[in-house]
Order: sequence, then structure tokens, then C-alpha cells
Amino acid sequence: MRDLRISVTDRCNFRCTYCMPAEVFGERYEFLHHNELLRFEELTRLASIFSGLGVSKLRITGGEPLMRKQLEKLIVLLRQVPGVEDIAMTTNAYFLPGKAAALRAAGLDRITVSLDSLDPAVFHAMNGTKGTVEDVLKGIAAAQAAGFGPIKINTVVKRGVNDHTLVEMARYCREHGHILRFIEFMDVGTRNGWSMEHVVPAQEIMARIDAAFPLEPLPNNYYGETALRYRYQDGAGEIGIIASVTQPFCGSCTRMRISAQGMIYTCLFAAQGVSLRDPLRAGASDGELEQLITRTWGLRVDRYSEERTEEATAARDRIEMYYIGG
Ligand code: GTP
Ligand code: 5AD
Ligand code: SF4
Repeated sequence: MRDLRISVTDRCNFRCTYCMPAEVFGERYEFLHHNELLRFEELTRLASIFSGLGVSKLRITGGEPLMRKQLEKLIVLLRQVPGVEDIAMTTNAYFLPGKAAALRAAGLDRITVSLDSLDPAVFHAMNGTKGTVEDVLKGIAAAQAAGFGPIKINTVVKRGVNDHTLVEMARYCREHGHILRFIEFMDVGTRNGWSMEHVVPAQEIMARIDAAFPLEPLPNNYYGETALRYRYQDGAGEIGIIASVTQPFCGSCTRMRISAQGMIYTCLFAAQGVSLRDPLRAGASDGELEQLITRTWGLRVDRYSEERTEEATAARDRIEMYYIGG
């Protein structure tokens, strides 16, 4: 266990069809109440315990993490936890123009932005109508201006929906110094109507980009990295492809996940979690919480992506993406 992914809210201001479709998450949808969420002090205490168990990387996710008020205060607290070497955040970028400088000052190291296409019609088809490509690009620019290093861009690839716009994305990211990462569309949750027909295999994505901008493979940056990396032969940076459907990487998975209400999950596709919030609020000691975490991780047998077949895994219960954050 090296990497803790912290969801800070289940809310989002976008309605991406593969995560929080507008038909399901309408005006009257009941999100978690504020007192159900882990408070920043509670999260910081848990982060210290995780750090003592070997976690050195934190990733802040949601929902949309910037929907959580004063998120920069959490970053300040997490930054002080001994052993935490890297704090990253995955966001839709909408609120970055107002937040990037404060997040940088608070000590956030890295930002990953979700952007599936630069074509407005395709963007709306995948990401709903609450934001625009322009909003996202402004957010990315704000992060760069605030001093965040190369920004990573996550692009979920869905066949027949955005796969004709991939080369254009690659061109834009090359020109702007971003690290683009294509993600094979996955069956996270139970509401995105996934089928293998929607998946463009990494090999095919690579070939299409390679035909426009010749690529060569790069080694992993670290053990258990999700992305297969390639560099542009002309020196204009790198791209990654996250091939969790066609080339799963469960064998090297070091990721623990904690939901906004303090449930820990040992897999992105888990059906069940274990509450840390309940024992914590009932007065458990650090040692007791540590034991609970160690036991949960020790019992872990997750390898969902390696076991996936359309028939056998389709019927399983799975946690939703907006709840666990990717
Ligand atoms: P860095 O390399 O530190 O930047 O982090 P990362 O590769 O974990 O990046 P990020 O959190 O942006 O992950 C990118 C995407 O990969 C996620 O949004 C998920 O869609 C997918 N992903 C991440 N972790 C897992 C995992 O454990 N299993 C599967 N199946 N997919 C994952
Ligand atoms: N398959 C692949 N990636 C997904 N994401 C959300 N849902 C899926 C899915 N079904 C990505 C988002 C975001 C990150 C948190 O996960 O685009 O970048
Ligand atoms: Fe880890 Fe589960 Fe993803 Fe496999 S499917 S890499 S076990 S989170």
C-alpha cells in the first residue's frame, strides 16, 4: 500500500454521461450531508496513520474535489503529515481559475484535469452541458499560471463517441506542454452502459497517435504505474495510455481508496468497503484504526480488471465512480 486516493465529496458540477448522468443525478438527487463527510482534521489523522503504514502518495478526488469548500485548508494539513511526499488532485478544472493559486500556496504538488475532447459537440455528449471546453482550458491555463508543472490531462476514450478527436487532443497537449493520458473506457459503477464495443484498445490508440506523431516507448516512472508511457520522437513531450481493460495491472496495484464518508475500498471496482469513520467517531485509538486498515489490506484479493469478462462481472455490484473518484 503506497498510494491513498481520497474522495472529499460525492458532488460534482458536471454531469458526465459515464459517471453522473443528468437523468439520474437531477435537481432532487440526495448527496451526502455535510456531517456525514470526514472532516479535514479526521482525514488528516487518517492520512498520518496511512503514512505510518507506507503510504507516501495522496490523490485528492471526488466527485469534483473543488466542490468541497476551502479544500486548500485540507492541503495545508496533509502537507504537514510526515512521510507524505506527493499530493496530487484530479479535477474537471472548472473552479481552477479561482482556486489554483491558493492550492499551490497550500502545497499541492500536481494537478490532473479530465478533458475528453476539444470538440464542443463531443465534449457535451460525454461531459454534459454544465461546463464547456473553454471553461476547462481556462482552468488548465490558471493551473499553469499558478506554477503547477506539466499538467496531466485524462481523456477517457469511447469508441464512436470521441475517438475521432484523439489526434487533435494529442496535438493540443504537445503544443501546450501537457502530459496527455488516454484511458480505456471502463465498467466502473453500474450506470455507464459499458460494453467491450466501446473500448478502443491501447494498441490501437497508440497506433493512431504514432501515425500522426511518431512515438517510442518509455519505461515506467515507478512500480505499479497505471500508464504505459511513450515519448514523441521529435522531443515534444510524452503521452500515456491507461490500458486497464486490455492490459490490466492489478498485480502491481498499490492503491487504497477512501470515500468522502470514510469507507475504505481496496479496489476501484469493490462492492463493499469498511468504515473508518464510525470507529474513529466512536473513539478508536490510532493503533485500533491501524489494525483495521492492515487487516482490510491483508485480506485483499482484488484483481477485478484481470477477471473481467462481460458475462461474469457484469452482474456484480460495484461502487460508483463519483463516490470513489477513480
Ligand atoms: P500518477 O502516475 O501519480 O500521476 O497517478 P495515476 O496514474 O494513478 O493517475 P490518475 O489518478 O490520474 O489515474 C488515472 C486514471 O487511471 C484513473 O482516473 C482511473 O480511471 C485509472 N486508474 C487509476 N488507478 C486505477 C486502478 O487501480 N485500477 C484501474 N482499473 N484503473 C485505475
Ligand atoms: N472509464 C475510464 N475512466 C473513467 N473516468 C471516469 N469514469 C471512467 C470510466 N468509466 C475518469 C475520468 C477522470 C478520472 C477520475 O476517471 O475522466 O479523469
Ligand atoms: Fe487495483 Fe482493482 Fe484496479 Fe486491479 S481493478 S488495478 S485491483 S483497483
